[in-house]
Amino acid sequence: MDARKKTVFITGCSSGIGRELARRLAERGYAVVATARKPESLQDLIEEARAKNWKLVTAACDVTDEASCVAALMAAREAFGEIHILVNNAGYGVAGPLEAVSDEYAKAQFETNVFGAMRLVRMVVPDMRRAGWGRIVNVSSILGKTAAPYNGWYSASKFALEALSDTMRLELARFGIRTISILPGPVKTAFVENVLLPDLPLPLVPVYEKTVARMRGERSARRKFEVSAERAARVILRAVEAKNPHPRYCVTIPAHVASCLRRVLSDRLMDRVIAKFYRLNRAGRSDSAPGVS
Ligand SMILES: NC(=O)c1ccc[n+]([C@@H]2O[C@H](COP(=O)([O-])OP(=O)(O)OC[C@H]3O[C@@H](n4cnc5c(N)ncnc54)[C@H](OP(=O)(O)O)[C@@H]3O)[C@@H](O)[C@H]2O)c1
Repeated sequence: MDARKKTVFITGCSSGIGRELARRLAERGYAVVATARKPESLQDLIEEARAKNWKLVTAACDVTDEASCVAALMAAREAFGEIHILVNNAGYGVAGPLEAVSDEYAKAQFETNVFGAMRLVRMVVPDMRRAGWGRIVNVSSILGKTAAPYNGWYSASKFALEALSDTMRLELARFGIRTISILPGPVKTAFVENVLLPDLPLPLVPVYEKTVARMRGERSARRKFEVSAERAARVILRAVEAKNPHPRYCVTIPAHVASCLRRVLSDRLMDRVIAKFYRLNRAGRSDSAPGVS
């Protein structure tokens, strides 16, 4: 099937990787359905598409809302017919020490990063099966392969997405549907600004306040490893267009290194590396957490 005759549905196009991917695929001639929770955030993309004569439509889609997903897919099919490529890009992070993150935050994290993605998978797989061709691209994270301290629920959501990608790869390959997981490392987007860092419950303030303050500082430390969203979009395009795509694509050097170390190191050694990277003085214990003995 000619790449240019394919329709791609992308979630989370208000900014970052989703936005760049929508632009790049439209430039290549794909029929693009760029979606976002707030349709007004897509206005400039609509104008660019008009000016450049792209085959691009936009739709409102909150991946946590079944009716919103149904309506977005209906609009997509009306514009371009069946969906051939789904990019589950929408996602955000919840941070903080695990003992300080409530169920409410944890469940919301899974609602978007895991259930939101799978809801759309269920809705588009029949199209792909009928066409005998499809690509499901899940934008995961390197934290879906190596969990990180103070990012436990985000890591857990991406680990879940990884397991589901592995399962879909096996279940759907016989219908010509390939499942691909993208593991970005730090990418320069609004992601860090959008991370939810719940307030510490009062009894935990003396235990973790320095840790949390340092986490905010680490947000700027990661900047030196960041690549552009455009670079991440290029990797996704390569994965989409590969005849025989890899199951996973790492995007940044830290993602390649972490993925490699995860494969070769024992859990104990990996803990040491991560503890050093996060400046924990012993695995699991933060040197900035007085009161924890
Ligand atoms: N940037 C990184 O360093 C990095 C690293 C690893 C993995 N990732 C993954 O890359 C993906 C894209 O993130 P990004 O870096 O491009 O960050 P971003 O600029 O914050 O983009 C995230 C997108 O997801 C959307 N979104 C969040 N919740 C949604 C929902 N319920 N329904 C629909 N859309 C929703 C956001 O929409 P709103 O504008 O409405 O909030 C936004 O468009 C995410 O899955 C993220 O986990 C990013």
